[in-house]
Amino acid sequence: MQLSLRRKLTPVLFSSSSFSMKRAGAAARKGGNLSAFVVIFSIFLFGCFMYNEDVKSIAEFPFSRPKNQEIQNGFQEKRSSSELDDDKKSTTTTTVSVVMNSRTVVETEVESKSSNSIEMPIEEEIDDEDIEIPSEDCDLFTGNWVFDNSTHPLYKEEQCEFLTAQVTCMRNGRKDSSYQNWRWQPKDCSLPKFKARLLLEKLRNKRLMFVGDSLNRNQWESMICLVQSVVPRGRKSLNKNGSLSVFRIEDYNATVEFYWAPFLVESNSDDPTMHSILNRIIMPESIKKHGKNWKNVDYLIFNTYIWWMNTFAMKVLRGSFDKGATEYDEIERPVAYGRVLRTWAKWVDKNVDPNRTQVFFMSMSPLHIKSLDWDNPDGIKCALETAPILNTSMPLNVGTDRRLFVVASNVTKSMKFPVHFLNITTLSEYRKDAHTSVHTIRQGKMLTPEQQADPNTFADCIHWCLPGLPDTWNEFLYAHIISRS
Ligand SMILES: *[C@@H]1O[C@H](CO)[C@@H](O)[C@H](O)[C@H]1NC(C)=O
Ligand SMILES: *[C@@H]1O[C@H](CO)[C@@H](O)[C@H](O)[C@H]1NC(C)=O
Ligand SMILES: *[C@@H]1O[C@H](CO)[C@@H](O)[C@H](O)[C@H]1NC(C)=O
Ligand SMILES: *[C@@H]1O[C@H](CO)[C@@H](O)[C@H](O)[C@H]1NC(C)=O
Ligand SMILES: *[C@@H]1O[C@H](CO)[C@@H](O)[C@H](O)[C@H]1NC(C)=O
Ligand SMILES: *[C@@H]1O[C@H](CO)[C@@H](O)[C@H](O)[C@H]1NC(C)=O
Ligand SMILES: *[C@@H]1O[C@H](CO)[C@@H](O)[C@H](O)[C@H]1NC(C)=O
Repeated sequence: MQLSLRRKLTPVLFSSSSFSMKRAGAAARKGGNLSAFVVIFSIFLFGCFMYNEDVKSIAEFPFSRPKNQEIQNGFQEKRSSSELDDDKKSTTTTTVSVVMNSRTVVETEVESKSSNSIEMPIEEEIDDEDIEIPSEDCDLFTGNWVFDNSTHPLYKEEQCEFLTAQVTCMRNGRKDSSYQNWRWQPKDCSLPKFKARLLLEKLRNKRLMFVGDSLNRNQWESMICLVQSVVPRGRKSLNKNGSLSVFRIEDYNATVEFYWAPFLVESNSDDPTMHSILNRIIMPESIKKHGKNWKNVDYLIFNTYIWWMNTFAMKVLRGSFDKGATEYDEIERPVAYGRVLRTWAKWVDKNVDPNRTQVFFMSMSPLHIKSLDWDNPDGIKCALETAPILNTSMPLNVGTDRRLFVVASNVTKSMKFPVHFLNITTLSEYRKDAHTSVHTIRQGKMLTPEQQADPNTFADCIHWCLPGLPDTWNEFLYAHIISRS
């Protein structure tokens, strides 16, 4: 699982770094300054969209896009000014036990039909089959997507009641389902066959925690579904309390948790429900407040990317939110990203015990906003895509800010702590078919048929359907977790 840094940077990637600047004096101002066009767009959009999701908080126009970008970004930002209702629910502390009344009759039938056979065969599997663990030096991330409907999906959408409506694409009306059937095949080895009980054994008396943004939450939901099928009703629960959501598996005394911290460091977007604000400001050297919640965890999985993508420069607070500071500097994105990751790296080196804890860093999850990026002139964003890009010799650029990839790869390599850098970016870039698109919710409500018919405006080409791509990301985690005894 060696990571070698081979990607070369094109001049384009660096062109904007040279005009990086600290616009200290000019940029230092009170939080709410909006240029005229943003105001106009805002008023317009406030009526039209009043819409949020961490989704739209995100740049749909990554850094190498044409220059109307900043306008578009203002546009995007304003669309996101409140949280989704499903997230709002999380403000109150709720325990949802497995025996949920929201389960449909159909699901119940499915379960009862197979109720005798659900637990036994899985037990047997563990005893009978040896699991082949890929060798340490196999590069898991170079390979290709293989259609394999006998092994994938690893669970059924309708059998995981913990999935939120944001990701249940079939239930939300998606017609094609083959996006669930792709298996990642590394070139020189294979991913070990996924076995929920084996993973749960590894998690016994342990805590696993995802830390980051809504993409990490996407992956957290996937992980819950991957393990929950072998846990009987009433022996599992989901508890949301502020920034922390905890899925608990009683019989293993294990937890699968998610902690909201979209920049990892302290920012003005840290509120778990009201985080999508116009003017994102970070404190790149401030991580303790979040970090104290990550202590004594056995598996930590970090990510930060999408929240960086709505402006070219990142606003960095001068001083502290606690002391009422409002002035900031604007710092070029990769530079600020480097400061944040070095703060994070220092925290990990100082606070995490390598004898107890494994730490993972997920590389960036890509967007698919322009169908011309994959030569489909008839496409509409990701909305009409039903198959991955299979020609892996074709150079692909879907607008990922690779400068941040290089920073993350560099920083994780330079640490004292042996962090696993999970290089999911390129293999995910092939998965233009796997986004939630118009089969998702906004403001807690399913998109209306009219909205679904307008993917140009409404398609979410950032998050992923489940079952789907994030299951593969978790297969990488699984491979690492089970290979260390
Ligand atoms: C990441 O994986 C891709 C293939 O998926 C590979 O081309 C690239 O070199 C890898 N990068 C690093 C830093 O390992
Ligand atoms: C798997 O896909 C093949 C080819 O599309 C199809 O013939 C077969 O019925 C599928 N099997 C299942 C279990 O869906
Ligand atoms: C249960 O798990 C917690 C958290 O990992 C751990 O601290 C505790 O010791 C475990 N309890 C038992 C009885 O092993
Ligand atoms: C929720 O979190 C707060 C702050 O961390 C804590 O004081 C409180 O006890 C928690 N509530 C529950 C029900 O766990
Ligand atoms: C980890 O374990 C090794 C060997 O048992 C020991 O030498 C080392 O001090 C331990 N490190 C920490 C941080 O506890
Ligand atoms: C894959 O893409 C490369 C480069 O664009 C092209 O030369 C090749 O013909 C393509 N292969 C297939 C099977 O389409
Ligand atoms: C990455 O690390 C290499 C070697 O340490 C260094 O030369 C390079 O400047 C670094 N790049 C970035 C973007 O940090």
